Amino acid sequence: MKRALVTGGAGAIGGNLVSALVREGCRVTVLDDLTSGHRENLPKGVRFVKGDVGDEKTVARVLKPGFDEIYHLAAFFANQNSCDFPLKDFRANALGTMHMLEGASRMRGLKSFLFASTSSLTGDLDAGLAEGFSTPYMASKFTGELYCRYYRRISAVPVRTVRYYNCYGPGEWPGRYRNVIINWIERVMKGEPLTITGDGRETRDFTFVDDIVAGTLAVARSKKTVGPRVYPVGTGRETSIKALAAMIQDACGRTVDVRFTPRRGWDKTLRRRADNRLTRRDAGWSPTVGLEDGLRRTVAWYRDRFLSR
Ligand SMILES: NC(=O)c1ccc[n+]([C@@H]2O[C@H](COP(=O)([O-])OP(=O)(O)OC[C@H]3O[C@@H](n4cnc5c(N)ncnc54)[C@H](O)[C@@H]3O)[C@@H](O)[C@H]2O)c1
Repeated sequence: MKRALVTGGAGAIGGNLVSALVREGCRVTVLDDLTSGHRENLPKGVRFVKGDVGDEKTVARVLKPGFDEIYHLAAFFANQNSCDFPLKDFRANALGTMHMLEGASRMRGLKSFLFASTSSLTGDLDAGLAEGFSTPYMASKFTGELYCRYYRRISAVPVRTVRYYNCYGPGEWPGRYRNVIINWIERVMKGEPLTITGDGRETRDFTFVDDIVAGTLAVARSKKTVGPRVYPVGTGRETSIKALAAMIQDACGRTVDVRFTPRRGWDKTLRRRADNRLTRRDAGWSPTVGLEDGLRRTVAWYRDRFLSR
């Protein structure tokens, strides 16, 4: 039986990934300190360790030989949170990743170490990292990517790196530092106005969590993806924030006011969409869920989880 370790396994993406691994018959251990995750996201039959990847001893205790796959998703999430608490961000995202790689470098028989990085590192469609670079979260995630390269070269850790594009779907709970979709669903359900930061023409690549999980598994298991390359996991389609506001109101069946405020200081990227050709080619993955369908499924989950209990 395959054994997997998922850090951040109680999180929005982690919980869905753990469920997919359990469905496959994998034995799964989760390491999560529950800063933004929820025990409820975990299916039955999982070994759960509450602990911080920023703590060297905790990581050494959990990272014993015998794991076939490691999925390192634990992170202090995300850009705005890192501007408010830069040291916490560094501890979880940079130091935590270093601890995980250091531990993995001493493990025999490990087939894959997957690092969850972010599309925030991919700037505007027509600008590179340097111009878009603006938060501690980007610095700590980029540091994680660089450590991955180092440990691959020096210790032959079978490293894979994915960059996720604006994930949404069941398992993400609304909150101050969470992504736009779940927070807007909550506001529309409560009849509250939506506030667009910017002029609404900014675009993002919203990717349903099932596609994110399938992409994660495909990259982790392809022989071609080991090494320094970074694999974008996103649909390849851009949607403007204004269009998103309308689609969410449609999916919720309610109309609310839409207001505008200036873009946040760190939010420099006007247009973002995944160029996922490399992931399609090397991992044989392709996205399957359209935004309308994904929003409908997310609203259904929100209703069930937050309104009918
Ligand atoms: N959701 C997205 O749109 C998105 C986009 C790009 C990258 N990512 C990355 O994907 C991963 C998963 O994101 P998510 O949306 O599920 O976020 P999440 O906040 O729901 O999940 C992160 C999990 O890590 C745990 N955690 C935080 N700090 C920890 C620590 N120090 N030690 C142990 N556990 C800790 C949290 O409790 C949580 O369960 C993260 O690495 C994130 O940076 C997410």
